[in-house]
Amino acid sequence: MKNIVLTGFMGTGKTAVGKELSRLLRERLIDVDSEIEKSEGMSINEIFERFGEQRFREIETAMIRNVSENKGVIISTGGGAVLRQENMDMLRRNGIVFCLTASPETILLRTGDSSDRPLLKAEDPFKKINELLRFRQPYYEKADIIIDTEDKDPLQIAEEIMEKATRATSGKD
Ligand code: S3P
Repeated sequence: MKNIVLTGFMGTGKTAVGKELSRLLRERLIDVDSEIEKSEGMSINEIFERFGEQRFREIETAMIRNVSENKGVIISTGGGAVLRQENMDMLRRNGIVFCLTASPETILLRTGDSSDRPLLKAEDPFKKINELLRFRQPYYEKADIIIDTEDKDPLQIAEEIMEKATRATSGKD
C-alpha cells in the first residue's frame, strides 16, 4: 500500500482523520509535528518562539525526509508543509497526497483559542486565517486528491479517503 499523506490548513482535521485511518486500516500513523516535538524535546510553540518560523521549516523538511522513507503508513503533516515543493516531492514518492479543506469559519471554530498554534496567535485570528488561506491556496491545490471536510465527521472523511485511495491505486478514475 502507498502511504496516505494528509495535508491541509490548520483545523481541517488532519490529526483526527489520521487517527481514524490508522484504526480502520490498522496502519501506523506518523504525525510530523509530534515527531518534531519528540526529536527536538520541545513543543512547536516553543520552537517558533525560540528559533522562529524559518528554523521550524528546516526542521520540518528534515523530518519529512525521514518519514517519507516509510511505506504503507499514514502521514499527517503540519498545515505549512505544502509550502516547500521539496516536501511535496518527498511525500509523493511513496504516497498519495490528500488535502483536507474547510471554510475559514469552520477553521476558526475548530482551532478554538489557538494557543498551541503560533501562526494564529494574532489579534484577529479570523483575518489571519483568511490571509494565510489566500496565500496558500495554490499550494494546497497541488495535492493529488482534495477532500472537502465541511459537515463531515472524521470517520466519514476517513472512509472517503480510503475509497479514493483504492480507486487511485487501482488505476480507475
Ligand atoms: C502550521 C501548522 C501547524 C504546525 C505549525 C505551523 C502552519 O500544524 O505545523 O504551527 O504553518 O500551518 P497543524 O496544521 O497540525 O495545526
